[in-house]
Amino acid sequence: MRILFLAVLRPHTGNAVTAERVRVHLEAAGHVCILKDAFDFESPSEIANLIEAEKCEAALALHLYRGGRLVQGHGIPFGIIFGGTDLNEDVNREEKSKVMGKVLEEARFAVAFTESMKEMAQRQWPHAKGKIYVQSQGITTTPNAAFNWSTFLQRAEINQSADNLHVFLLVCGLRQVKDPLYLVDAFSEWHQEEPNIYLVIVGPEVDPVFTKEVKAKVERAPGVRLMREMPQADLHAAVKNCFAVVNSSVSEGMSAAILEAMDLEVPVLARNIPGNAAVVKHGVTGLLFSDPQEFVQLAKRLVSDPALEREIVANGKEYIRTHHSWQVERDTYQRLLRKFEGSLEA
Ligand SMILES: *[C@@H]1O[C@H](CO)[C@@H](O)[C@H](O)[C@H]1NC(C)=O
Ligand SMILES: *[C@@H]1O[C@H](CO)[C@@H](O)[C@H](O)[C@H]1NC(C)=O
Ligand SMILES: *[C@@H]1O[C@H](CO)[C@@H](O)[C@H](O)[C@H]1NC(C)=O
Repeated sequence: MRILFLAVLRPHTGNAVTAERVRVHLEAAGHVCILKDAFDFESPSEIANLIEAEKCEAALALHLYRGGRLVQGHGIPFGIIFGGTDLNEDVNREEKSKVMGKVLEEARFAVAFTESMKEMAQRQWPHAKGKIYVQSQGITTTPNAAFNWSTFLQRAEINQSADNLHVFLLVCGLRQVKDPLYLVDAFSEWHQEEPNIYLVIVGPEVDPVFTKEVKAKVERAPGVRLMREMPQADLHAAVKNCFAVVNSSVSEGMSAAILEAMDLEVPVLARNIPGNAAVVKHGVTGLLFSDPQEFVQLAKRLVSDPALEREIVANGKEYIRTHHSWQVERDTYQRLLRKFEGSLEA
């Protein structure tokens, strides 16, 4: 089948990563997937032309509002995947909510990432009951086997001969909402007591003005380093080698970096916000902190308690295996796509 897949593809977003993974799942089942950025289209007629030119027989949209309303009304079957903003923001605008309700009426199926997203959607659009499926994001990590940790440390200007070296990694786009500076002062203080402790912030420079601010701050912060963005496979290798992954973000949504760290069997220390608490169970699959002082306290405990570290890592890996299986995600999308085939024959 030739499938048009509309998604919001801004780089460095969870949506772009999810869309790419789903595309690979569909193509593995022998479909042709034409993945396009929903923001490149302004009107349904542009989509109609695309569907005709590409001979699309069905469509998928990631984002009910931004993508779904564009694939509706062209006489081809389609499914949608809820995006975070559909249910956090757009649903509260009456006009948008009405549009989304109509799209859902026509959709063959809808996918929510979590049970609570599904419940929220069903409360809002009761007519969609029965066609909403829950499928969480599948996690795959492929560390670059040729990655050289020692070179990474050199580039980060980290004293490799320090006894008992512990590198904490914060993976994040340099944007205000990700709050990459939240732990910097507390960390520097700790580094001055224990020079074998480092915090490395790795991420794309999403917001140039804010990036300047981050650079200036980090330059004056002992024990804290800033590294440029690196290829995904190198990043996974760096995560695999570091002592723990840190998340200090205040933004909503699910952190791919946290899930990837769990998959790579690296402990996670995350700020206690709803998105993180949904994934990290304190003391079980990771550690949650509410302020920088608590972060340092928990990090010290983790450093000095290898049994705790082993337990958290094992639980995290098991959580990924049971809740974010890539294979289960693949099976779900391939199964849902068969709903189109039936309707094409009819
Ligand atoms: C990593 O690079 C260093 C030189 O920077 C080299 O001495 C070392 O052998 C390399 N390690 C591996 C595992 O390739
Ligand atoms: C690196 O660490 C070693 C061992 O802790 C220490 O002796 C040395 O002074 C440190 N070097 C620098 C440049 O900080
Ligand atoms: C931290 O977690 C939040 C919520 O889970 C997520 O939105 C954010 O992207 C994560 N940030 C980093 C730096 O991993």
